[in-house]
Amino acid sequence: MKRFLAVCMTLILPFYLFGCGNQTESSSVSDFTSKAAEQSSVGSKTGNEADSAETGADSESETGSDETKILVAYFSATGTTRTVAEEIAETSGGDLFEIVPAEPYSDEDLDYGNDSCRANREQNDDNARPAISNAVENIEDYDVVFIGHPIWWGKEPKIIDTFLESYDFSGKTMIDFCTSGGSGIGQSESSLKEICPDSEWLEGRRLGDSSEVAEWLESLELNTEKREESVMYITVNGRKLTADLADNSSAEALKELLKDDPLTIDMSDYSNFEKVGGLGAELPRNDEQITTEAGDLILYQGNQFVIYYDTNSWDFTRLGKIRDISQEELKELLGGGDVTVTLSLE
Ligand SMILES: Cc1cc2nc3c(=O)[nH]c(=O)nc-3n(C[C@H](O)[C@H](O)[C@H](O)COP(=O)(O)O)c2cc1C
Repeated sequence: MKRFLAVCMTLILPFYLFGCGNQTESSSVSDFTSKAAEQSSVGSKTGNEADSAETGADSESETGSDETKILVAYFSATGTTRTVAEEIAETSGGDLFEIVPAEPYSDEDLDYGNDSCRANREQNDDNARPAISNAVENIEDYDVVFIGHPIWWGKEPKIIDTFLESYDFSGKTMIDFCTSGGSGIGQSESSLKEICPDSEWLEGRRLGDSSEVAEWLESLELNTEKREESVMYITVNGRKLTADLADNSSAEALKELLKDDPLTIDMSDYSNFEKVGGLGAELPRNDEQITTEAGDLILYQGNQFVIYYDTNSWDFTRLGKIRDISQEELKELLGGGDVTVTLSLE
């Protein structure tokens, strides 16, 4: 019991003391425990008992569009998150995927008042990765992925970590959402971002119930068609970087070049400020005087692709800029000498 109280103090108290980002209700240990007791006393159906153990995502609803493929993946032990996930899928036109544990959670497993119950043990073990019995077969098709879960001791259940580590979500737009007895989403959002640092994370939300879904989705402005149109990916030494493309005919021609297949370029270092390599094709030039910054993507003499990690001033063409990377990080990633990079649109 002493240990349970200690866990309560460590995990729940911060939500109580410091407020909870987007939450709509304030929380305290007693709020959370009394609401949870209410829930279990009405005998909510557990995820394991539910009859929706899909092996692939449910097909897109009629409101879906061809351009924006949305996946709503969720884990729900007692059905609350499921209801909200269903509403998100319905309203956004996304495909629904329930993350089904290989070993179902029994009521005993979820008995958080018992500090050695399975859920508590997993949450206290950094290495716990509960197995999942089903899989998303076509993850590469999705542009936007919602990740839904209950809050367990202030953060996401460890099965969510298993799910995120099972696929490559680089370059995808990701959104965390949760339900809880009162705690906010705060800690889970940062934990998810840590697992998928190469995704674009939009602001997540704790949802009280399905009635909050429509307004939230609207505020997210999920116009992925527009977003994807102006984005290119650069894979360097195993890391996938996202770059915003310039609004000119050179960037348009580069996209055309990458339309069917990614392009791999061997690049060499020049003058301690850039990596340069041949595109193997001529692109239209839109030369102008530019003083470069780290992350700038430049077309030199119409056929050389250049990544700048430091400053240079010259008359050349802007192709785009790498997002969300510091000069130090970029320098380290590119290394001191030759480097091979792959450009792609997906
Ligand atoms: C092991 C466990 C730990 C929990 N920890 C918290 C918590 O820290 N804060 C909170 O507000 N609710 C907590 N809850 C309550 C759930 O987050 C809440 O009931 C949620 O809506 C359940 O979602 P589900 O029905 O989709 O599983 C916990 C529940 C369990 C089983």
